[in-house]
Amino acid sequence: MAKGVTGSTLDRPNLEKVNSGLDGVVVAETVVSEVDGKIGRLIIKGVDAETLGFTSTFEETCSLLWQGLLPDSLSLPEIKQAFYLGRCEAFELAKENSHLFNRSEPMEVLRTTTSLLSGGTEKTIAAYIKIAAAVGYFAATWSRVQKGLDLMAPDANFSQAGDLLRMLTDKVPSANEIAALDTYLTTVSDHGMNASTFTARVVASTESDNVSCVVAAIGALKGPLHGGAPGPVLEMLNEIGTPEKAESWLVDELDHGKRIMGMGHRIYQVRDPRAAIFEKAIGLLEEQARLNSSDNTGANNNSERLLLARAVEKTAERLLAERHPEKPLKANVEFYTAVLLDTLKIPHQSFSSMFAAGRVGGWLAHIAEQRALGRLIRPASKYIGSNV
Ligand code: COA
Repeated sequence: MAKGVTGSTLDRPNLEKVNSGLDGVVVAETVVSEVDGKIGRLIIKGVDAETLGFTSTFEETCSLLWQGLLPDSLSLPEIKQAFYLGRCEAFELAKENSHLFNRSEPMEVLRTTTSLLSGGTEKTIAAYIKIAAAVGYFAATWSRVQKGLDLMAPDANFSQAGDLLRMLTDKVPSANEIAALDTYLTTVSDHGMNASTFTARVVASTESDNVSCVVAAIGALKGPLHGGAPGPVLEMLNEIGTPEKAESWLVDELDHGKRIMGMGHRIYQVRDPRAAIFEKAIGLLEEQARLNSSDNTGANNNSERLLLARAVEKTAERLLAERHPEKPLKANVEFYTAVLLDTLKIPHQSFSSMFAAGRVGGWLAHIAEQRALGRLIRPASKYIGSNV
């Protein structure tokens, strides 16, 4: 037996039961967020996600997420300024590596450009902001380059959400639009032990650097079963076109063994609470557009999109209940993400990278928490190959 190791830790694990999806396996205690899948409640750092989503800027959310997990802190104006400086650093990196943004896959580009950031295992608010600011900046830059627009220098007058929206839409965003993007970034900033967060924690547990943890998490988020669904949700809504066509389109997909994107969740047995938050945010944006628009055209288009989304959701929920009575499959976060980000005129190819721009706040909190734990994550496997 190795010196200093008790017999029990070297005992062979119970190899009878294999849990390939790790459903229900608790791998860590956390103060970052709690997901109650039975009643559909998400708490982020002690605050209900809806309250936080409608009252916090992304900078305030990051400050809350990291509070108590990092030894240092900054005032909110200092945090806002540090985010601006983080975007400036990312801008310089983007200029030096502009060819990377020509590649067509946005999450691939985000993964590659994020890996250009330097740094070690620092647990400081400045190091964290640098990464969080850059992930958003790189996400927005891909979209600009694809449209043939120049890289945009960050503007200190804007918050992270405002500056990203300015870059993504090439126009000065309204206060309501910025607030809606803050709602989005805040609401998706953390969600229990999801696949990308677990990935970040596994890498942190090896004592690898912060950037490597975030790059690995981006790789996990890229998958269509995790963060890759909102783009396809919008494509689905566009293909369906009108509420009357929802049933036949969805039946056809299901008959061909396809999954309906934006529906179903590993944890939620009820509707994902984030779907309701985004639905409300879309409603607020529409209300504002109606008040501001003289001809009402833009607002009407958005309303039609929201009505279509609700009809598709209802029909999909019914069809899925008929086919899978054993498992409730209801709208998840990505269903209304598609409609909200589309209402903000963010190109649908950038939806997953905008998800990363928000979730990076939570990843960094979990990285700090994992580092404090100081325990390598190393599960077991059951060998079923041949024995020579
Ligand atoms: N459309 C159609 N069928 C679905 C479905 C969906 N969106 N989600 C689950 N199912 C089916 C599965 O095919 C499976 O059927 P089977 O038992 O006949 O093979 C059954 O429901 C159970 O699903 P399972 O794969 O065990 O669920 P999970 O907990 O592993 O998956 C998701 C959760 C999110 C991966 C899954 O619901 C999904 O793929 N959703 C679509 C992608 C998406 O929106 N992702 C974003 C998540 S936030």
